[in-house]
Amino acid sequence: MNSETDPSGVKLEPVVDDITATVARTAAEIRQGLVGRRDKAAGENPSGESQAEADVYADELLADRLASIEAVGEYASEEREACLDCGPTPGASGSEGGDRSSPTVAVAVDPLDGSSNLSSNNAMGTVFGVYEAPLPAAGRDLIAAGYVLYGPITTMIVADETGVTEYELTGGERTIVREDVTLPDEPVVYGFGGRVPDWPADFREYANAIETELKLRYGGAMIADVNQVLTYGGVFAYPGLESRSGGKLRLQFEGNPIGYIVERAGGRSSNGNRSILEIEPGSLHERTPVHVGNDELIDRLESALE
Ligand code: F6P
Repeated sequence: MNSETDPSGVKLEPVVDDITATVARTAAEIRQGLVGRRDKAAGENPSGESQAEADVYADELLADRLASIEAVGEYASEEREACLDCGPTPGASGSEGGDRSSPTVAVAVDPLDGSSNLSSNNAMGTVFGVYEAPLPAAGRDLIAAGYVLYGPITTMIVADETGVTEYELTGGERTIVREDVTLPDEPVVYGFGGRVPDWPADFREYANAIETELKLRYGGAMIADVNQVLTYGGVFAYPGLESRSGGKLRLQFEGNPIGYIVERAGGRSSNGNRSILEIEPGSLHERTPVHVGNDELIDRLESALE
């Protein structure tokens, strides 16, 4: 619905701020808890990927902290099969929604994006999307999205209707370092996931052209790779593959939040033919090809995949 006040006149800004502050505080605990949790956990996530102990730890912490916020009606995570119901239906109004003096939202998170980087001690992130609708929801139902990047320093990007802000986190406290974050006009970097032989021929052709123009920056954690695009301009993609046409990234937990952030920063997102935010979701853990970056680069991508 994308406004700072929902149709019933309820203010959404304090809700978004509460969620953002909670993610920031929890991120400090997640970061500290990474030491000693690099090993594989016993289980797999609902997408069939093996989990690190740190994935499970981060999910449990975020579920505990976010579900205790009154306005959060649903919590969903890449690491758990079903949504956790923790209050009235997100986005519902009147009697269906319970007390409408406070709005209800759903929060979808990827607790530790790029956690396979734990073994090699490279960057990772925590991604979150705040939807004013029950999950699975379309990206246009997002009222805010953001991520924490566990790099040499811990930073946080938050996007809402008003724009994109970058913070540095110290012990969970946020300090603004950049307001009105926008993609630089002159793109510099690109990062494409998946194995080259598994890329469809039309994407390979696009990649060949991009390689002659931009500099490769790929680290294998979407958050870190997208943050390079936000910083320097360029394009990040995890395309549909020959072996899996939906690619690897999950719509609710990765595609939508990242699409929202990049679009708010003045760029474009695409699943190959339209904005990721326009995709009607079918299920909570469905995948989508993800391409985000400067307008012109995404326009060319869509022409290449036509
Ligand atoms: O969520 C999956 C993820 O870790 C993303 O952060 C990242 O973009 C991708 O997988 C990396 O996949 P690959 O190892 O295939 O490059």
